Amino acid sequence: MTTQDDIVKGAALLAEGRLVAFPTETVYGLGADARDEAAVARVFQVKGRPSNNPLIVHVATVSDIERYCDISRSWDPTVVRSRLRKLSTLWPGPLSVILPRGKEVATNVCAGGDTVAIRIPRHPVALKLLELFGGPIAAPSANQSMYVSPTTAQHVRDSLKDTIDLIIDGGPCAVGIESTVLSLLHSTPRILRPGAVTSETLSDVLGCSVQSPNNLKPSEPEELLSPGMLAKHYAPHTPVRLKTSISQHEGLPPRVGALIFSDWNPLFPVTQSKILSPNGDLEETAAHLFGALRDLDAADLDLIVVDTCEPIGLGEAIMDRLIRASRR
Ligand code: TXA
Ligand code: MG
Repeated sequence: MTTQDDIVKGAALLAEGRLVAFPTETVYGLGADARDEAAVARVFQVKGRPSNNPLIVHVATVSDIERYCDISRSWDPTVVRSRLRKLSTLWPGPLSVILPRGKEVATNVCAGGDTVAIRIPRHPVALKLLELFGGPIAAPSANQSMYVSPTTAQHVRDSLKDTIDLIIDGGPCAVGIESTVLSLLHSTPRILRPGAVTSETLSDVLGCSVQSPNNLKPSEPEELLSPGMLAKHYAPHTPVRLKTSISQHEGLPPRVGALIFSDWNPLFPVTQSKILSPNGDLEETAAHLFGALRDLDAADLDLIVVDTCEPIGLGEAIMDRLIRASRR
């Protein structure tokens, strides 16, 4: 587990333009100084991430959000400031907002675009690292591009060990799925990626309606969408199918894994199964989701069949990730 020394070392490495993996409450991030173009370029290189997919900037306080964004260039600076004030009750936490980019943020963080995703993480190790480093940390999830996000330090070691300068171990991530991404670029706030901060919570806190990804029509202009969300994402190497896509008399391959939320009994032979939350708790289901997908992916299976739930509340983010993982 983490020692204070690791955090101190991590802050020093970031200041030298090096890469540090660190825990957040959602997933582990691969951090670099968000003001350092060369360090950020290494993040893209190490992850094999397409340069058109922008990164999330992590900061310690709401006034840092105002510093590294340029709210004066918003569609309505007064409304946006008031929305940020309301959202500040959700920070630190698993919510990233999209705003016009502040000039201190390196342009490659934002994939050359004019907007930036920014959040205040809740994990005490991430907050301490931000405090000691004293600057903004650009950090995508610390996995190879297109693979399942890491929720333990071991997951990070498994894929990026030889390519990064330090992995700070903060134990398993409590939330387990990536932050909600909320665009504040237009009069109606839009969720670009569902996460643990749900659309219900956001419209309550903001006191206005919030556009959910479910409501996005295929004809929406692409600039309104999150670039990273256009592609298949978060997928294990083993093919994944939702249980609802399996018909009763269908022939399945010999080695099938089952990812069970709580009490589903598959009607086909299963080589290996994982139960995410015996009591049917959605938060526990989310926290265990990516680790279980990785375990099943390592079990030499031909197919992973995954359970499903209602896409409401946290279920929306869980189903979003599983639907993406099942896209071939
Ligand atoms: O929970 C999280 O958000 C984790 C932890 C480490 O904070 N980070 C994370 O980063 O999931 P990443 O890079 O794997 O996902 C960032 C998402 C992508 O879907 C990306 O397209 C979107 O945020 N994004 C970043 N900047 C954006 C922007 N300016 N406009 C629209 N979408 C943006
Ligand atoms: Mg990612």
